[in-house]
Amino acid sequence: MSENNVIIFDTTLRDGEQAPGCSMNVQEKIEVARALERLRVDVMEAGFPASSPGDLESVRTIAGIVKDSSVAGLSRALEKDIDAAREALSSAAAPPRIHLFLATSPIHLEYKLKMTPEAMLERAVSAVRYAKKFCSDIEFSAEDASRSNLDFVATVFSAVIAAGATTINFPDTTGYAMPDEFARMVKYVREHTNGIENARFSVHAHNDLGLGVANSLAAIGAGTDQVECTINGIGERAGNASLEEIVMALNVRQDHWRRRTSIDTTHIYPVSRLVCAVTGVKVQPNKAIVGENAFAHEAGIHQHGVLVNRATYEIMTPESVGITKSEMVLGKHSGKHAFVDRLTQLGLAVDENAMDSIFAQFKLLADTKKTVSDRDIEALVIGTSRAIPETWKLERWVTNAGSSVSATSAIRLEGSDGGMRETVHFGNGCIDAAFSAINDIIGKDVTMEMFELGSISGDSDAQGEAMVKIAYNGKHWNGRGISTNIVESAIKAYVAAINAMEADVNK
Ligand code: KIV
Ligand code: ZN
Repeated sequence: MSENNVIIFDTTLRDGEQAPGCSMNVQEKIEVARALERLRVDVMEAGFPASSPGDLESVRTIAGIVKDSSVAGLSRALEKDIDAAREALSSAAAPPRIHLFLATSPIHLEYKLKMTPEAMLERAVSAVRYAKKFCSDIEFSAEDASRSNLDFVATVFSAVIAAGATTINFPDTTGYAMPDEFARMVKYVREHTNGIENARFSVHAHNDLGLGVANSLAAIGAGTDQVECTINGIGERAGNASLEEIVMALNVRQDHWRRRTSIDTTHIYPVSRLVCAVTGVKVQPNKAIVGENAFAHEAGIHQHGVLVNRATYEIMTPESVGITKSEMVLGKHSGKHAFVDRLTQLGLAVDENAMDSIFAQFKLLADTKKTVSDRDIEALVIGTSRAIPETWKLERWVTNAGSSVSATSAIRLEGSDGGMRETVHFGNGCIDAAFSAINDIIGKDVTMEMFELGSISGDSDAQGEAMVKIAYNGKHWNGRGISTNIVESAIKAYVAAINAMEADVNK
């Protein structure tokens, strides 16, 4: 990597996953990790191994698979956490990183850690020394650095570098900093950190005031070597700095920044869609780079300009971020070759073993729809590596609704024991009736937290896409369903969420 490159440290699977409603199961995390590797992130933080046995296992699995990015595991500055991170990264396919953190701000020291600055410094140094015995690549984060005494942060950074830290990270944990101020802080701390020439300087910005990306870019201007960010900007509270926005700002404004990244930008859109699908959290239509409207030109005067010369209103092409429009229409006569070609064009990877089944589903779909759009194909493929066992399979459904009758739904599910269970339920609409019938069959009072219905493409025979988030015993699961019938897409989404729950409960 050239010295001039900005290192992209992706934390979608750790800080991103901490966002409300963004939790992913291990299969989903593996799918996202593979997509991040194709995107060519330098480092991906795969989780916080000491936080739960499940997190340890997913970091271990991802570290064993990913070869082209370094996999990092987060750890508090505690030996037991470092042991968990070490175990999770012990058979990593690429040189791994242990990411240690301990707060430096007065408020965190006094109220959270109940520690003096001197004790904090000592703990930070001994944690780095301990971790260094097992891993050569150590990152140290001064949590809440932007609300800390900068001389103290520089003292801590100097000491942890001397103890073996190879990256020091300056987080704006609460999203409090202003861009010009953040740049000044980065510059000051860099200048006052001894041994900085032997380490990389990183920043980690949150988005509480909507400034995560602006602060990251300001820090890049002040000489930061690494930025920490997430796909779609998901993360704690208002989220983290968005990877796609930072990367495209550097890319589009090369003339301004003169810094590059290793990111293959043509994978941005597919990864963004994948993260939406596995978390069930969509991006807003006007979201920069990956929103539905990011490249839409509604006003006549704009449309005219773009038709004459796209550069009149477009500062980057949709293709440069992986949004492709294809000339060839796929339908029921299309063969496997054309289908596989389109998958490649769309930057979608399909497991060899799953290809035949996905192609068969494509053929079924092509029988019910005149043309199969890129969004339909995306919807078929995304999430297919989630091998969630089907505790319940939708066998058949019937609904009855109208303005003068109470809505009813009859649902028949097949259990994993092969037994059929069927019931009918009234409801406040046929979807509510269907969900209540499913709850009756499975014998659990599951509550629905979120339900969204959309269409995959805008055409008149578009498929319905439903996203459901359910809660049971204080835990949450997502499900997604697609069908040419919107009621069926909702029922499928609910059954998928129930299966994710059963897989977790039966583990
Ligand atoms: O926001 C934060 O400070 C963090 C650290 C663990 C880097 O996420
Ligand atoms: Zn964070």
